[in-house]
Amino acid sequence: MRKVSLVLCAALLFLGCGDDSEKNQDRANNVNNVNNVNNQNNVNNVNNVNNVNNTNNVNNTNNVNNVNNVNNLPDEVTYHNTVRAILESNCTSCHYTGGIGPFPLTTYEEASPLASLMSMVTQAGTMPPWPPQEDCGEFKDPRNLEPIEIMAIKEWADTGAPEGDPNDYVAPPDEQTTNLGAADYVIDIGTEYTPNPAQGRIDDYHCFAIDPGWSGADRFLKAYETHPGNISVVHHMLFWAVDKDEHAARIQQLENEDPSTPGWDCFGGNRVEDVQGLLGGWVPGTAAIEYGADQGFRLPSNSVFIVQLHYNTLNNENPDRTTVDLHFTDGEPATKLAMYPMPDTDLYVPAGADNATAGLSIPIPINIDVYGLFPHMHQLGKSIKVEASRGGTDTCMVNIPNWDFNWQGIYLYDEPMTVRSGSQLKLECVYDNTPGNQANGQQPRDVTWGEGTFDEMCLNYFIIEELPFDF
Ligand code: HEC
Repeated sequence: MRKVSLVLCAALLFLGCGDDSEKNQDRANNVNNVNNVNNQNNVNNVNNVNNVNNTNNVNNTNNVNNVNNVNNLPDEVTYHNTVRAILESNCTSCHYTGGIGPFPLTTYEEASPLASLMSMVTQAGTMPPWPPQEDCGEFKDPRNLEPIEIMAIKEWADTGAPEGDPNDYVAPPDEQTTNLGAADYVIDIGTEYTPNPAQGRIDDYHCFAIDPGWSGADRFLKAYETHPGNISVVHHMLFWAVDKDEHAARIQQLENEDPSTPGWDCFGGNRVEDVQGLLGGWVPGTAAIEYGADQGFRLPSNSVFIVQLHYNTLNNENPDRTTVDLHFTDGEPATKLAMYPMPDTDLYVPAGADNATAGLSIPIPINIDVYGLFPHMHQLGKSIKVEASRGGTDTCMVNIPNWDFNWQGIYLYDEPMTVRSGSQLKLECVYDNTPGNQANGQQPRDVTWGEGTFDEMCLNYFIIEELPFDF
């Protein structure tokens, strides 16, 4: 185990021996490439409301323009002049009939009776679900509301949720269209799986192994798009590529645990491979993930895919068959991306502790560009934070101040964040192991690293350029 926690550190120290002037040139290009993708890909972004401003009738005093100006909400905030566009940009990707949100918010009739509740949850910051703290990291497609949007919903609720005039409505731009073309390979769980949570629970974490039967050269993933089969139960998806020969026996063993169901129960990871091989994931509202031109994730030809689906049966227990469309680069891309784990496998959370901490700090001997992050803990987690510190200055990279295991995400930066040589990368996790914070109402007990429901993790993945050796 200890070996794993030093992986990123050892890898970077090794790289530090080389000359990286040529790489810097590459990196300059990457920054541009990523920018290009951002432009095509702005999804569910509060800035979209700004875009609306530029293209729409500025003379209309009652339109969405006002939402961006704290001092300038319309005299009367109505559903049509303000609230509808806010809901369509930020809420209806989940809150539509059949979506993961427990009720639809797509019409005045649906939304108005819930105005006060919406006002409460948006002020409390629990909806829309967007765990990262705002002042830390510039991420793509943030799902948080602007203060003025929160004020608009409050004002609307406080004044009796008036409908207003449908002619005042200005549609937010359509963010969800993707033009990736035909997939090069489709990961298909291959079966209609009916979520089957344990007695008294609503969540089921289930893993499936899919062997693409590949041979020949490695492929490189430049984009992927997830198609949940049953959007009302699929809460999130994560997928990995693991080595077939190395893991075939373990996968068979897991499949055999319950021969009556395809796949196997898996809670905090995939139970095949502790931390390596993660490729990406999906949460409701995520559009296609597309990396920059000439960038891609390596998919070794000897891979087996593992898909973890988190099903939430709050709405129903109907079957699901989720697929993921993969799109490959033509040949090897100039920039090969990979996810590198930084775990504290020595974590120890004593029974009863309400502020136990775990984490580690590693020296960075070269400049690295970080394209994205994926922080991960289990159910005792309270907060998790990644920082880069150098010369006494801490740069916040991601901060989840109120960890919620049910709302995890992979956060991609708008532009890669450069961590400069001589920095320390710091990961800090905080846990609450008091009786009030136990998953199944059981007694607190001493907890260490592991994949089980009652184990914990303190882990962050960094999306950076692939390092030139295996680990
Ligand atoms: C990513 C999906 C998603 C988005 C986006 C989203 N919600 Fe939700 N919402 C949910 C889910 C799922 C629940 C059920 C509770 C939970 O799992 O947190 C919920 C619950 C709620 C509730 C009930 C909360 C309670 O305590 O009873 C309200 C009200 C709500 N959402 C309003 C909104 C509003 C308003 C927006 C946009 C500003 C929004 N939601 C955006 C998924 C979403």
